[in-house]
Amino acid sequence: LGYGPPRGPADLRERIAERIARQEGYAASPDDVLVSGGNSQGLDLALTMLTGPGDIVLVESPTYALALQMLRDRPLEVAAVPMDANGIDVERLEGMVEALAAAGRKPRLLYTIPTFHNPTGVSLSPERRRVILELARRHALILIEDDAYREIAYEAAAPASLWATDPEAPVVRLGSFSKSLAPGLRVGWINARADLLERISAAGLLESGGCVTQFAASVVARALSGPGYDDHLHALRRSYASRRTALTAALRAHLPAGARFVEPAGGFFIWLTLPEGVTSARLLPVAEEHGVSFASGSRFSTDGDDGSVRLAFALLDEQTLAEGARRLGLALRNMPSPAH
Ligand SMILES: Cc1ncc(COP(=O)(O)O)c(C=O)c1O
Repeated sequence: LGYGPPRGPADLRERIAERIARQEGYAASPDDVLVSGGNSQGLDLALTMLTGPGDIVLVESPTYALALQMLRDRPLEVAAVPMDANGIDVERLEGMVEALAAAGRKPRLLYTIPTFHNPTGVSLSPERRRVILELARRHALILIEDDAYREIAYEAAAPASLWATDPEAPVVRLGSFSKSLAPGLRVGWINARADLLERISAAGLLESGGCVTQFAASVVARALSGPGYDDHLHALRRSYASRRTALTAALRAHLPAGARFVEPAGGFFIWLTLPEGVTSARLLPVAEEHGVSFASGSRFSTDGDDGSVRLAFALLDEQTLAEGARRLGLALRNMPSPAH
């Protein structure tokens, strides 16, 4: 247990590169991999090395609430791009990038979750993946691809990452073992175009301490060395898919008209758009009186939009999820009318 190499232990970097080659169709090598202490730390490191004070950072809205918090911890300017059932709205993105560039305020990067998004559960469509990569190249816009939920795929495998699709585009992909193995291990990794990975690897944090998570990284390398990890993933997917199906079926049975969601093909979440005029702030106390709760939509938006809620199905069993949906339906029906 000496200091580790700054980019992480060689055996874990090899295992990760092998998995990428097998699953994502890109012949990655260990040189493409920098071991991180999970995606939160990977994002922090990328922001430290790739942004400066006053830089404009684009995000999807809604987006992962705690990434928003990490961005707001820094002297950055955050601007939001809307998304729909096919992921980020690439036309709006292009319009914003061009307008900002014309005003001499070129955005530095886009933080995006293109696969099994948190909180919406949707994935960026293949056409939009092509458009966004081309746009990133044309405008030298760095894409920070948060890929935390890649392994949590249900009926079909996850689409190839933006990074593996075009390793010459300015993409930094953040991978994590938090959702597939255990968040307490604090192990993830970064893949990026060679110059970007070089830049991130030069962080003083890595030079001083070596790998940020040396001990746990060696544990994960061992866990990945036999067939056990794939068997574990298989069991996880089956179990989460069954929970997802139980919750979506019960929501369809119990929710009043006007409540909408897209069935997620992976990840942990359902993004429920509430009936017209209902906000999550008004619904929450009523829902809690009925013994059910959720994450309020406004936490994930940059402008406080509160017309949706995030439901998580990963933790609870099928019966409990179905009962939760029933109670949520009752709460929506029992909402007091808004004061005029
Ligand atoms: C989109 C997204 N990114 C990052 C994280 C945090 O990941 P890690 O545990 O690897 O830091 C989460 C956890 O919920 C997440 O949903």
